Amino acid sequence: MKTDVTQVMVAEHELILRMIALVETNTRRLEEGRFSNWQFYLDAVDFIRNYADRFHHAKEEATLFTALVANGMPEQNSPVAAMLMEHEQGRAFVRGMEEAAQKTLAGASDQVAVLAENAYGYAELLRNHIEKENSILYPLSERVLPEEVRPAMLEAYRQAEAAVAEDFSDHYRRMVEGYEAEAAA
Ligand SMILES: [Fe+2]
Ligand SMILES: [Fe+2]
Repeated sequence: MKTDVTQVMVAEHELILRMIALVETNTRRLEEGRFSNWQFYLDAVDFIRNYADRFHHAKEEATLFTALVANGMPEQNSPVAAMLMEHEQGRAFVRGMEEAAQKTLAGASDQVAVLAENAYGYAELLRNHIEKENSILYPLSERVLPEEVRPAMLEAYRQAEAAVAEDFSDHYRRMVEGYEAEAAA
């Protein structure tokens, strides 16, 4: 049995998917005039940038994808190249959400459509992205990566985890739980 190098990443996907579900639910309500907490979108942007992107995507880019390329996966026109492109596409949607929320909190009243376009765009992109990683790229990684590179990969994950504040993951988990409770109320 080889050392597992993707289980921790699948667990991070779970929390990201919960935030994506909140983005969709709250945006549907926003369009129906039943949700007006625009601060939620700035918190979602904070979650996506810091937890999903700087933390989770950085672990993929610096460790998992790098290991795949070092062990035979082409860098161009490959699953890794496609995943990197989707990380980048996500960042544009996040900027769109942030701008719409900032304008609204500064007094604009015409940002619902722009927000919704970017929120749904991000949700669809990232849900498909995570599905591809969970069902294709991560299982492929577990098949092809040799055992000798795996302990160093886990060590690199641990270093990424040590580089953030001690309550980093708990903070973002509590953020998701708080908005889930609000959405269920
Ligand atoms: Fe990814
Ligand atoms: Fe991922």
